[in-house]
Amino acid sequence: MNENVIKALALTALTVSTYFFAKNCNKKSKSNTRPDKPPGMPPKKNEKEKKFEAWAAMEEGAMHFEPYQYTPPALGDDDVELKVIYSAMCASDYHQVLGHWGNKIYPLVPGHEIVGEIVAKGANVNHLELGDKVGIGAQRLSCLQDDCSLCSRNYEPYCDKCVWTYNHRYWDGEPTYGGYAKSVRCHSYFTIKIPEKLPLKEVAPLFCAGITVYDPLDHFDVRGKKLAVLGIGGLGHLGVKYGVALGNEVVGVSRTTSKREDCLSWGAADHIATDDPEQLKKYKNYFDVVLCTVNGDDAPWNEYFKLCAFEGEFIFVGIPNDKINFDAGYVLPQRLNVTGSEIGSPVVIKKMLDLSAQHNILPVCEIWPISKLDEAWEAFIEGKPKYRYVLDICGSEYE
Ligand SMILES: NC(=O)c1ccc[n+]([C@@H]2O[C@H](COP(=O)([O-])OP(=O)(O)OC[C@H]3O[C@@H](n4cnc5c(N)ncnc54)[C@H](OP(=O)(O)O)[C@@H]3O)[C@@H](O)[C@H]2O)c1
Ligand SMILES: [Zn+2]
Ligand SMILES: [Zn+2]
Repeated sequence: MNENVIKALALTALTVSTYFFAKNCNKKSKSNTRPDKPPGMPPKKNEKEKKFEAWAAMEEGAMHFEPYQYTPPALGDDDVELKVIYSAMCASDYHQVLGHWGNKIYPLVPGHEIVGEIVAKGANVNHLELGDKVGIGAQRLSCLQDDCSLCSRNYEPYCDKCVWTYNHRYWDGEPTYGGYAKSVRCHSYFTIKIPEKLPLKEVAPLFCAGITVYDPLDHFDVRGKKLAVLGIGGLGHLGVKYGVALGNEVVGVSRTTSKREDCLSWGAADHIATDDPEQLKKYKNYFDVVLCTVNGDDAPWNEYFKLCAFEGEFIFVGIPNDKINFDAGYVLPQRLNVTGSEIGSPVVIKKMLDLSAQHNILPVCEIWPISKLDEAWEAFIEGKPKYRYVLDICGSEYE
């Protein structure tokens, strides 16, 4: 055997062993947290009387929340129980309380931007300790099996065994309840430790709004590209901040100029108000990536598509209620890639939290005491948040 053949064989052996090592490491970390049985089992005998206190919309379209008690699912070996500290309000809460998305399970306890302290944990939970400050987002479970083509690639939100944090059902049919509550139980894999540097008061929105905009920027590897963020709300303002941190030329796009100065202060290169045709014209076919967080039904879709450069990515993360109407004639000539993205894996959430700690990327929050939930909800429905409302569930105990 000549020297080159030996080198090639050695390299192949190294590559193969690295591959199997990486695969097995992945397997190990997954099986540590794999569900041993479907959650949502009946509570253990001594827990039958245990009740979690929450705030619920009792019917479709409710503008008022009632105190609501429910019996939690048993704390499984892989689960943790949180004392909820902060819970932020996402536009998806509004869609679901208003019954827009099919699932309509009332009483409905919203909340999937949850921050809390671990007060109990199951026997298999080794990576989290009692007292840890953690967050939970929109997903509380998936199959987590090594042979799942989605979970094994850390695409858990797309797994068909996905269980959403609230207004959904566990595998046995029991309803799930969210974070407008004093307590929550969740599988520990979907419960993520918060880096100490990040203030609890502001970190909750990262668990849905943050990851929903960060994940596609990470997945489509938009680093260094020209990025437009459409809709500067809870998601969009974080899209601008993460886009800037990843080294993109970022331009915020709103209906009016009212959010222009904010966008510039977060590092955006410019801001476009779609009510001014001249501003739109300036950026015709300019952006490599357009991240659409828009939540409105009557948005100027054709104008948005015109912003994309040849073979650009148009990524939907916003979910307007009505069907979106646009002309194929605005997609074809630029050979656009129109795609969408849903929240993100716990693995990517950790990456996002680290980036947030490193660059001090936090949402702009307004804190509401839970006693003013109805008032906050009304202002939220009217589209007043600039840029995220956070419910303080347990007073100033955790300032
Ligand atoms: N993909 C996912 O996994 C995921 C996760 C979380 C949320 N979502 C969805 O993402 C969307 C945004 O959520 P959010 O919490 O960021 O909502 P938000 O804070 O209300 O922001 C939405 C923004 O959309 C723009 N907008 C609203 N109505 C509009 C209209 N008629 N025409 C054009 N623009 C309009 C506004 O931006 P300007 O004021 O700047 O114009 C508004 O600030 C919602 O549909 C939500 O359900 C999806
Ligand atoms: Zn959300
Ligand atoms: Zn799966």
